[in-house]
Amino acid sequence: MGLRVAVFASGGGSNFQALAERAREYRVALLISNRAQAGVLKRAEQLEIPAHVLSPGSFENEELYIEKLRALLHKEKIDLIALAGYLSKIPPKLIELFQGRILNIHPSLLPRFGGKGLYGRYVHEAVIKAKETFSGATVHFVDEEYDTGPILIQERVPVLTDDTPDSLASRILDIEHQLFPKAIHLIAQGRVQVEGRHVSITPTIHDD
Ligand code: GRF
Repeated sequence: MGLRVAVFASGGGSNFQALAERAREYRVALLISNRAQAGVLKRAEQLEIPAHVLSPGSFENEELYIEKLRALLHKEKIDLIALAGYLSKIPPKLIELFQGRILNIHPSLLPRFGGKGLYGRYVHEAVIKAKETFSGATVHFVDEEYDTGPILIQERVPVLTDDTPDSLASRILDIEHQLFPKAIHLIAQGRVQVEGRHVSITPTIHDD
């Protein structure tokens, strides 16, 4: 069944679950978390997906950490890495090894409200403070900076006048659960071309 995907996640893992349950032309074959208490590990157990906790700080040096990651990705024959709420920096060496094959989901309309320090609740607080009328979710390719890689797909959601960071987060999360599987299906169908920072998607006869 097509592409083999590893999901990296640090938190509750609702995107991990959506990716696993909505997979048709790819398969979620591995979960990597950097936190032994992350709720996502329970979801992996229930979905019977192999999971490993790898905390970069617990390795003697970065090479050993990367070696371990590489071995796990190789063993599971991983083609693509999906970062779904992963709060540990991806080592440049891994980005090099998986050039153009690491995706991240971010809960805003990048390039707005992204970058270091803008994650989770902080994103939604900043959007509300700026009195934006729209926010949304973005799936992008990962480069060496935070949230700056080429954008694959995005979807807008309205910001309501009485929104709190939590209500906005939850509306965006519902969109994320559809958007991330959709992005990986586009790749699995061979419809995505990346040239520099430009991403093009081959339409199908079913598209509008
Ligand atoms: C999502 O909002 C995602 O966009 C962000 O972190 C959150 C993860 O949520 N990068 P979950 O752990 O998938 O529920």
